[in-house]
Amino acid sequence: MIETSLILGIESSCDETAAAVVRAGSHPLSNVVASQMALHANYGGVVPELASREHLRNIVLVVREALSRANLTFADLDAIAVTEGPGLAGALLVGITYAKALSYGLNKPLIAINHLEGHIHAVLMEARGRSDSPMQLPLLALVVSGGHTHLYLAQQGREATWNYRNVGRTVDDAAGEAFDKVAKLLGLGYPGGPWIDTLAPHGNPRAVPFHFGHIKPRTPAAPTSYDFSFSGIKTAVLRYTQTNQMAQAIEARRLALAANPTLKPSSPEALALLDPQTLDLIASFQYAVVGNLLRQTFAAAEAFGARGLVVSGGVAANSELRRRFSAEATRRGLPVAFPSLALATDNAAMIAAAAWPKLLASNFAPEDLTATPQLRLG
Ligand code: KG4
Ligand code: ZN
Repeated sequence: MIETSLILGIESSCDETAAAVVRAGSHPLSNVVASQMALHANYGGVVPELASREHLRNIVLVVREALSRANLTFADLDAIAVTEGPGLAGALLVGITYAKALSYGLNKPLIAINHLEGHIHAVLMEARGRSDSPMQLPLLALVVSGGHTHLYLAQQGREATWNYRNVGRTVDDAAGEAFDKVAKLLGLGYPGGPWIDTLAPHGNPRAVPFHFGHIKPRTPAAPTSYDFSFSGIKTAVLRYTQTNQMAQAIEARRLALAANPTLKPSSPEALALLDPQTLDLIASFQYAVVGNLLRQTFAAAEAFGARGLVVSGGVAANSELRRRFSAEATRRGLPVAFPSLALATDNAAMIAAAAWPKLLASNFAPEDLTATPQLRLG
């Protein structure tokens, strides 16, 4: 049973309706993601009511597709796993209600998963699938996405279950949110991360010096804070555009992109919309954000005696982040692992993978499981 356990994962916490089947927490047999990105791009961010409606339209088809790509039927499954939070209440409820109905109708156990734990298991699943030697514990996990910037110390306890201690978090915006907001205020497309990632190599990262202020420790007893703050740099970018009279160029770019919404950030036409000063600003912004993530993460790894690093979430797709984290990890002799690009952003394979240790420990969801939009991990 253990090595062949088949878990159907369902994820609907934000703007992706996703379903996947994973065998034994290591082998994704299917991973289907219906993205609503194009829909929300018109508004420059996720609109909760639209997200719930789209999840409702897609959920049955996406689950059916995940089973069909895995060549399985509902009867073959051993358990159903679903994201219980954190996320948008209405969006989460679509996945939870459908998962509960399946669990009840099929008489299969239901497992509730924290979305943030899912992001961590995206990386652990791929490492297990590659049969890498198991990562040394404790691990320090940086979960960095549009909604979250969290540091967790992760350990495995009895019956292989995982426990997490939150040792750092953003006190305001998430790092991905800063990428999205800065891209928007520079007239670039949505989501902003891939735009900034693609354009940054064309600018000088040292052209505009950005500084991160000191964050007060959470308790007077703690000497150092491993928290993050990204709202200040967004305001600093805005101020820079005002001081340097960039408004007209930004508006022209915004209109050009609105007229051609399918333009890819990597196309020559997109690059032609950028002047050298804006490219320098983009490169400097990314350099500063990645530098801050890097400093806080490695400082926490040292302080808490982590023996390995995991970086996950949408911003873990960033190429400068991967390059600089890998170089620093090599310098310190600390192994670091990232998810493949497909598993960095929201997906359901990570939910099914995180459910596997819970299936082994018979840690099932209560019958009255409901959405917990502010669910914490650790
Ligand atoms: O994990 P995710 O799909 O959803 C959340 O749980 O938030 O992350 C989406 C976020 C967005 O803010 C997006 O701009 C950012 O991840 N992102 C990136 C890159 N690709 C996606 N940020 C920086 N560089 C990228 N290449
Ligand atoms: Zn996420």
